[in-house]
Amino acid sequence: MRITMVGTGYVGLVTGTCFSNTGNQVTCLDVDQAKIDMLKRGGCPIYEPGLEEMIRRNARAGRLHFTTDAQAAYASAEIIFICVGTPSDDSGEADLRYVLAAADDIGRAIEAAPGDTGGPVEERRAKIIVVKSTVPVGTNEKVRERIAARTAKPFRMASNPEFLKEGAAINDFNRPDRVVIGCDDKGTGDRLRDLYEPFVRQGNPIFIMDIRSAEMVKYASNAMLATKISFINEIARLCEAYGADIDEVRRGMCSDSRIGNKFLYPGLGYGGSCFPKDVLACINMGTASRTDTPLLRAVHDVNQQQRRAFIAKLDEHFTGSLAGRTIAVWGIAFKPGTDDVREAPSITLMQHLLDRGAAVRAHDPVAHATCRQIVGDEPGYFDDMYEALEGADALVVCTDWDEFKHPDLDLLRSRMRHAVVFDGRNLYRPEAMAEAGFIYYSVGRKPITTPSAQATVHI
Ligand SMILES: NC(=O)c1ccc[n+]([C@@H]2O[C@H](COP(=O)([O-])OP(=O)(O)OC[C@H]3O[C@@H](n4cnc5c(N)ncnc54)[C@H](O)[C@@H]3O)[C@@H](O)[C@H]2O)c1
Repeated sequence: MRITMVGTGYVGLVTGTCFSNTGNQVTCLDVDQAKIDMLKRGGCPIYEPGLEEMIRRNARAGRLHFTTDAQAAYASAEIIFICVGTPSDDSGEADLRYVLAAADDIGRAIEAAPGDTGGPVEERRAKIIVVKSTVPVGTNEKVRERIAARTAKPFRMASNPEFLKEGAAINDFNRPDRVVIGCDDKGTGDRLRDLYEPFVRQGNPIFIMDIRSAEMVKYASNAMLATKISFINEIARLCEAYGADIDEVRRGMCSDSRIGNKFLYPGLGYGGSCFPKDVLACINMGTASRTDTPLLRAVHDVNQQQRRAFIAKLDEHFTGSLAGRTIAVWGIAFKPGTDDVREAPSITLMQHLLDRGAAVRAHDPVAHATCRQIVGDEPGYFDDMYEALEGADALVVCTDWDEFKHPDLDLLRSRMRHAVVFDGRNLYRPEAMAEAGFIYYSVGRKPITTPSAQATVHI
């Protein structure tokens, strides 16, 4: 099939590359010339394990193309996937300007394409416009209207929300738990099912449903996952208040098969480009339809509180005076396996530290460039995780990258001015940290405020 992906971000680039990998002719379109130039040179504008090699291989085979020429990309496509961003606007509503701008371009391109008279043959071959971006329920109808306002020629609409996770995106797309397709005619459903067949050979389901339900599936899924995170974080705060240990509580609770053990890890709260904006968009859908959504509002509030509560531990430890302190930060990406720092807790933390006059020495295996775009050059960025600790008054762990899980504690302590660790991901055992001579704060567990007497520390 001839496919055009609109937007070569985390979703458009991964899914376009995977579609080309099953033999389709894929054109990835973007308005960002620098991105397209880099892709044409064989580079990859995002960090996603395995992606760069897969792009190169499929581009070399002549199946994967990159362009900024919207007219040509739309004219040649049988199926067009809209994969542009849908960030929150100032009120928390999903900002649809990129989706609707793409719809306008698509309408104009269909109208301008030669040899399509809108007759019965063209009707059968009508382009399918698929909204893959996460959008509020009813958006497909708006997209349909915008395209129809620019052409009288036939086209079809479908919703196909994406469930891939950054950091494991290729595997998620190639072996999805499920594929959801929303459409209102059988022909469109059949053509999209056909496109996805190679990805569900293990028998994973393709659900074909009405468009509004498909749009809702994505929000409902992300809202559910965000709810689990806020739930466990709220319980972690209760554990702190009552001297219980969230790790023990989690183990005891999650062995109940009705509860399960996925997505119930306490930490700094959810971040990234999806959960925060999708929960807000759901709340806004409620407001717009006068449907109260108290649970989702609480999920969002708890998430905000979780960040504030962790930062408050730092403020309290330094008795409100961070000015002149040096704080090392391990992990900037909102989760391991990606360079995406959108809505990452580390960014809120670094901005807080810098605002209060602390010096920040940051290390992330892949996210220095993306962090610089938001926070600038004020933090020091260190390629070596131990170098970031030089002279630090405290280390804050924000992302659970594998390389942070078993650090050399002697080296860590020797590099730091003060042996103090704030662990936002519960990577270390409090007893081990106490034995190694650290003051140690984590989430939902008793802090170690007095280091072991045997250890050599300079507090
Ligand atoms: N990132 C994820 O993990 C993920 C997972 C599932 C769903 N989603 C959803 O997918 C959508 C895209 O997310 P993303 O993270 O890939 O976004 P992104 O910001 O990484 O990429 C969007 C791209 O679209 C381009 N663009 C904007 N307008 C354009 C236009 N008119 N024509 C061509 N290109 C245009 C931008 O230049 C950018 O490169 C969002 O709705 C998001 O919620 C994201």
